[in-house]
Amino acid sequence: MKDQFQIDPEYPKLLDNNDPLGQFRQRFFLKEDQIYMCGNSLGLATKDAEECVLEVMEKWKENGIKIWTVEDNKYYLYSRNLAELMAPIVGSDPDELAIFGGTTINIHQGISTFYKPTKDKYKILVDDINFPTDRYAVDSQVRLKGYEPEEAVKVVKSRGNFMEEDDIIDAMTEDVALIFLPNVYYRTAQVLDMEKITRAAKERGILIGWDLCHGIGAVEINLKKLDADFAIWCTYKYLNGGPGSSAAIYINRKHFKRLPGLTGWYGNKIETQFLLRQEFDHQQDANGWQIGTPNVLSMASLEGALRVINEAGVPNMRKKSLHITAYLMYLIENKLSNYGFTIGNLREDSRRGGHVCLEHDEGYRISIALKARGVAQDFREPNVIRLTPTALYTSYQEVYKIVDILLDIVKTESYKAVGNNRNYVV
Ligand SMILES: Cc1ncc(COP(=O)(O)O)c(C=O)c1O
Repeated sequence: MKDQFQIDPEYPKLLDNNDPLGQFRQRFFLKEDQIYMCGNSLGLATKDAEECVLEVMEKWKENGIKIWTVEDNKYYLYSRNLAELMAPIVGSDPDELAIFGGTTINIHQGISTFYKPTKDKYKILVDDINFPTDRYAVDSQVRLKGYEPEEAVKVVKSRGNFMEEDDIIDAMTEDVALIFLPNVYYRTAQVLDMEKITRAAKERGILIGWDLCHGIGAVEINLKKLDADFAIWCTYKYLNGGPGSSAAIYINRKHFKRLPGLTGWYGNKIETQFLLRQEFDHQQDANGWQIGTPNVLSMASLEGALRVINEAGVPNMRKKSLHITAYLMYLIENKLSNYGFTIGNLREDSRRGGHVCLEHDEGYRISIALKARGVAQDFREPNVIRLTPTALYTSYQEVYKIVDILLDIVKTESYKAVGNNRNYVV
């Protein structure tokens, strides 16, 4: 990596001038006095998202209830319309996708659909370093089937901060009915080998679902090729859909005839939905997994955001992300390693996602001091500052600048003025 970059302060200007995605910065609402390194948590607003939200507001103002039917039922069928924009991002057919609800709700929808325990095959396989909402959902789903998590949730232990694919595969015993894992880890940015794990699960007759929250829009995903049973993801991180924007679910078309675990009238066959019969008439594609009325305003911001992603193309975004994060790591190693900083993520391109995991014993206070200096990023226990130079709106010059700010914070020890009282959101 050392030979690839230069330490010279003029060098990032050269990189910015040669950035093929550089023009996308102007599509985002960036602030003069802020460097935004938090796209792994909440992506920035695009002008396209604003335009779509304002358009929906206008249509609502003008049409009231008739908003559902304007433009050939656009908003009534909003999940289908957004699925067309989402499909190229995940490499699936549009009818294998539904956009609705929220991430955790969709995890419940996926697990309750695919977890059908029998006397001998009743366990769900998970890991011990995933974002905890996944585990809470899995635990509650096994309880709903009359089991205790201790007996029915099989937890693969991480080694240090990382998961070994072979440990997961070794845990695929005959009593496992379902596997649910993330493709990229929220803290370390480790990328799991989805193909290898999915193949192993299928060879053993075990169903598998993926949480793509930290991978979507950051790494390339091809669900068709993967052929997993289901997947869910949020849309507010690297996709920039907006705070709490509607989430997504993928249902492999071979499962279209399954009944959703959580049924609601929006999963009814579209032709008979408004007959409002008491019997559920299942729409047999991913739209049949929708539950209730679409959250149109939060889907509108997503519509604008997805247009931008499709224009840029995820393969191009991944290329830039790998390059700009490598540049950040190069600067950290060359300028910060004498000040107690280490890089906590794996180094191989195939094993790291969109953020750099900067570790320091004083990580929390340094993260707060960094925020005070105008750098938006976040801290995760016990010592991780997550830094995300995103492909579409972070410049190389900003990366250079934040490393200098970090250097100043540790050299002057200004972080020592920060107390240890923590806010609800860190
Ligand atoms: C892996 C993973 N799953 C789920 C979620 C959050 O779910 P929700 O959108 O329901 O809050 C997160 C949040 O960061 C996450 O990292």
